[in-house]
Amino acid sequence: MRTRIVAGNWKMNKTFDDAEVLITDIADALDDVALENAEVVLCPPALYLEMAADVAEESNFSLGAQNCYPADSGAYTGEISPLMLHSLKVNYCIIGHSERRKYFNESHEFLAKKVDALLNHEIRPIFCCGEVLPEREGNRHFAVVKKQLEESLFHLAVEAFTQVVIAYEPVWAIGTGVNATPAQAQEMHAYIRQLIATKYDHETAGNTTILYGGSCNGKNAAELFSQPDVDGGLIGGASLKAEEFLQIVSAL
Ligand code: 13P
Repeated sequence: MRTRIVAGNWKMNKTFDDAEVLITDIADALDDVALENAEVVLCPPALYLEMAADVAEESNFSLGAQNCYPADSGAYTGEISPLMLHSLKVNYCIIGHSERRKYFNESHEFLAKKVDALLNHEIRPIFCCGEVLPEREGNRHFAVVKKQLEESLFHLAVEAFTQVVIAYEPVWAIGTGVNATPAQAQEMHAYIRQLIATKYDHETAGNTTILYGGSCNGKNAAELFSQPDVDGGLIGGASLKAEEFLQIVSAL
């Protein structure tokens, strides 16, 4: 049975003090939540991972980074390696977010290297995929997502692939207040699962956690998560308020 996950992607938000309050509030509340076959992942800015790791040690959530560079160490000014993340007991790392693809020109090939580098250090990639609006309007969304998976994930052997979490994040839904409808999300998630079954096998496809992201909030999470192939969410804006984030967790 696959694990259901709600992950909070804080992006570039919060001062240190505000981050500490938010993470403590969430951690305290999670003490009273029974997570059965489910996981909460918090992905604060890298600067706050050490503080978050301390809180995580006593709490009921896993820690995720938002980015990494695909080398263990070296002359890469400003970058953070999977080895460093591993040394802070980081369990997950978001890869291929549309903001990084767009603003930092991250290619399929570069993302494949990041995936490999993370898996080398037992960090599970949360691999983001999704189309922009003109691609959906041109009915190219399935082809776009297929290429993203093929070019950055499908080189993996099956054992390695089982460590990957996929997040379908239609770019037109991110930060816009316009979420994919539950039917649109289900349709793409089922398609992704079918691609995995074709590339690997049905068991692997059935065990892969596929999250939805894009204007997911306390109001719409329950309906989105009730779709058979939607295994939770990758949450941006709504992960910055403890109460709303916890409401989303309760929809798992
Ligand atoms: P929003 O939830 O703010 O739309 O962002 C989604 C996202 O990009 C998560 O990675």
